[in-house]
Amino acid sequence: MKFVRVKTYEEMSTLAADLMAAQILVKPDSVIGLATGSTPVGMYKKLSKYNKAGKIDFAKVKSFNLDEYAGLDGTNEQSYRYFMNDKLFNHINIDMANTHVPNGCAADLALEGEQYDAMIAEAGGIDMQLLGIGFDGHIGFNEPDDHFTAPTHGVVLDESTIDANSRFFEKREDVPTMAISMGMRSIMQAKKILFVANGKGKEDIVNKAFFGPITPEVPASILQLHPDVTVFFSEE
Ligand code: PGA
Repeated sequence: MKFVRVKTYEEMSTLAADLMAAQILVKPDSVIGLATGSTPVGMYKKLSKYNKAGKIDFAKVKSFNLDEYAGLDGTNEQSYRYFMNDKLFNHINIDMANTHVPNGCAADLALEGEQYDAMIAEAGGIDMQLLGIGFDGHIGFNEPDDHFTAPTHGVVLDESTIDANSRFFEKREDVPTMAISMGMRSIMQAKKILFVANGKGKEDIVNKAFFGPITPEVPASILQLHPDVTVFFSEE
């Protein structure tokens, strides 16, 4: 694992964007795993800028997002599909047909998960997976549990996750209580992991994840078993 500690959000965003850009430069048909949340927004802005300046080309890139709220379709401004279109896809030359977000409106989330994992496998697996971390140690929406869950699956969100995400909604009651999340198999099978975390508030959980025991109570701790993880942690 490479653990890179920087001072500012700006530095973290630049380093993360540069690493993702290098991946796409080296393999123009890369399969990239993407994440939502406030942490990657700066990185997405930089990638959009690099693309506009002709420095990276997304024409052959395929993307798979980590998760989606249950019951929200892509036209809902709170959905992660909407977020991705708004923060990245609408600003780069990626083919929308090559962008994938799990379908939170699927009648059977377990079946949707199975099909999502099959699509990832068919694309050749993920070359570089971007991850953030929740205050409870989640990656994607893999919440603390007594076991790690391998397939993409439906999840009941933790109260702490609902609290944290309520800042994006008008009222706490509006936050969906369920979601669908990429499971640990597709995440851990990614060839490279690019992990970003920002702010003093994340320091404790980042320490637990990377320097504590590997336990499903801290889902991100499973990454200690991954052979190629780069962490960019900003103190700001
Ligand atoms: P954040 O979310 O980037 O908004 O802090 C991260 C996460 O919950 O995975």
